[in-house]
Amino acid sequence: MLNTLRLNGHNQEHLKHAAQLLIEGKLVAFPTETVYGLGANAFCSKAVRAVFSAKMRPPTNPLIVHVSSLEDAWKLWDLSRVQDKEQVAERIRVLAQAFWPGPLTIICQKSDLISETVSAGNAKVAVRVPSLAISRRLIELAGVPLVAPSANASTRPSPTAAEHVLRTLDGRIDAVVNGGNCEFGIESTVVDLSGHTPTILRAGAIPLSKLKEVMPTMAAMSTDTMLDKCSPGMMNKHYAPHLPHIYLCHGDDLTRAWLGGHSLLIRKSSADRLLAELGPRCAGESTVLPDDPIGFARDLYAAFYRAERLSDKALAIETPPAELCWESVADKLRRATSRELLD
Ligand code: TXA
Ligand code: MG
Repeated sequence: MLNTLRLNGHNQEHLKHAAQLLIEGKLVAFPTETVYGLGANAFCSKAVRAVFSAKMRPPTNPLIVHVSSLEDAWKLWDLSRVQDKEQVAERIRVLAQAFWPGPLTIICQKSDLISETVSAGNAKVAVRVPSLAISRRLIELAGVPLVAPSANASTRPSPTAAEHVLRTLDGRIDAVVNGGNCEFGIESTVVDLSGHTPTILRAGAIPLSKLKEVMPTMAAMSTDTMLDKCSPGMMNKHYAPHLPHIYLCHGDDLTRAWLGGHSLLIRKSSADRLLAELGPRCAGESTVLPDDPIGFARDLYAAFYRAERLSDKALAIETPPAELCWESVADKLRRATSRELLD
């Protein structure tokens, strides 16, 4: 059992200390604009293996490498291994120009700098430049690219605050850098640019509509194709709070959930309406989330962790609206409420 050090991301000495730990091959969780990541030196295979074991992550699920600039990202890919080198390079430039630094992860053929431990035996590597100043400062101070999967035990919700990191990794990692709550609260959008059609492998903080504005050929991957190939991490049950039963509900079922004893995660306008129609709930805790998809996403995982604290029974979640702007939230909720373990 390790003594997990608590560091302050706004204190430069603490950040230097965190960087020193990373240089020594230790594991340091740190904030990004999406969720907290579990950082380790991407060039140190021992440290990378320790990330898999701390998270209890299957070794078949590759890691995202974090760098502080596009210039550093180019070194991690090898475009000579790509079919249409010029076109792929141009696509990388377009997306990086529009979304970096920020919550977009780009996958392309890896260079020999990236070990198979990082890519989980894959010929490609996922790279991103986070926008949070603390993340980039830490990468710069460490002087090496950092692998950083979400800083949670495998299959649990991603952490959006330092206390969530400690919930599943306290004693399993060397330090956590506290930078407060994450701005987006859901993970980066992952796109694969290595093939003929640029494709989203994981829905996330940047919606498909925004990507299409700068790259009209961008495609969302269907679940069927996803099961066949590509993103191993997408096949597991994910983001699920530790509760025996989690379900989506709307209409009469939502009313029943309001009246019943289960914990409830509900949008503000629905909570206001049910409060006016039926009066306050007399049993079960409610967490009220913002009516807009961005606010809802930001507070979602914190609501999951809160629900775990408040109940050991079931959690009812209001079904998100069937509008395009809710697609990333809907994806996360589908995974959290899926009964199957697909792996
Ligand atoms: O916002 C984020 O992306 C956060 C922060 C910390 O940067 N990181 C994160 O990492 O969510 P992780 O490991 O929890 O999720 C990475 C996802 C997984 O679904 C993984 O399978 C996929 O990206 N992935 C990584 N490398 C890949 C590769 N070479 N090919 C296909 N999928 C890959
Ligand atoms: Mg994760």
